Amino acid sequence: MGRQHVDHGDIVRFAQDKVNLPKDKADEYRAQARRLRERLESYLDEHPDFTLKKMLLSGSLAKGTALRSLNDIDVGCYISGADAPSDIKALLDYLAERLRKAFPNFSPDQVKPQTYSVTVSFRGSGLDVDVVPILYDGDPQWYGNLVSQDDGSFLKTSIPLHLEFTRKRKTAQETHFAQVARLVKFWARNMKREKEDFRFKSFMIEMILSHLCDQGLDFSDYPEALQHFFTYLARSNMREKIVFTDCYAASAVGSFSEPVQIIDPVNEKNNVSRLYTAAQADAIVDAALDAGDAIDSALAAPTKQETVYYWQKVFGPSFQV
Ligand SMILES: Nc1ncnc2c1ncn2[C@@H]1O[C@H](COP(=O)(O)OP(=O)(O)OP(=O)(O)O)[C@@H](O)[C@H]1O
Ligand SMILES: [Mg+2]
Repeated sequence: MGRQHVDHGDIVRFAQDKVNLPKDKADEYRAQARRLRERLESYLDEHPDFTLKKMLLSGSLAKGTALRSLNDIDVGCYISGADAPSDIKALLDYLAERLRKAFPNFSPDQVKPQTYSVTVSFRGSGLDVDVVPILYDGDPQWYGNLVSQDDGSFLKTSIPLHLEFTRKRKTAQETHFAQVARLVKFWARNMKREKEDFRFKSFMIEMILSHLCDQGLDFSDYPEALQHFFTYLARSNMREKIVFTDCYAASAVGSFSEPVQIIDPVNEKNNVSRLYTAAQADAIVDAALDAGDAIDSALAAPTKQETVYYWQKVFGPSFQV
């Protein structure tokens, strides 16, 4: 049967070869972000009143869930002070202007405002660093108003608390939590390639996996863990409210009107999936049903060729064993 042809170990090898960002690359990109952060810190030492207070690696590179296809380095930048504009366009210009001041060895055209962030481009090697503004007024847990990369709205949240949240799940299921997250993100990326309007935000994927992790699901067998994830989406129809109690009591969470309700583990008022329509949720459920069926078929297939055929329905043509 199919397990003889493609088993957990084959998925592990596929992940190493095709899915995961290689460790030397991840180290290089983290070092790139660290150099920027340290340069800001030394500028702050000389100019304590400067309004950019801190730069912090965020996103998948910080969480260890980055894919090989990573194309920028996410860094949050805390901006304090009464003169920081709240209009998004003005805020990005302001951030760019301040970054140019703190990094005088970058030419002005290496620091460019985009729609909802400012990119800092390095000459030669490395990736662009995508600096996301966070309006900050001194909260000790680093809560602030993060500019949403989806629609430019301000989201009250805390990046360090998100990192701690994910670290807990990664510790509960060492290696496996992060690996299954990368495999699911790779599946979602493959779906996006097949259907242009398919959307499934990485942060939502991680929150759903965190929910399954908290319920005691064992992630150590990847075909099984993936099957559980897809079954959960199908069974819940993406309409089950997901709430975590790391930072607040479940009773503190109010009601929401949006079809998908995955509540920010660090802010009970923030629905992380608020922009998802019923049609987009249904498309995710349909894709999960297909993926679940394909894994069932792969696990039951009599030949290697058929087994690989079904796994390719999940991961696309780059899946080979
Ligand atoms: N709606 C949101 N509410 C609160 N925080 C968010 C929200 N969306 C993103 N974030 C923050 O931004 C970080 C990056 O989220 P994103 O969905 O881009 O995932 P990622 O881990 O960087 O994945 P990718 O590899 O796809 O870039 C999250 O870890 C979280 O801290
Ligand atoms: Mg990212």
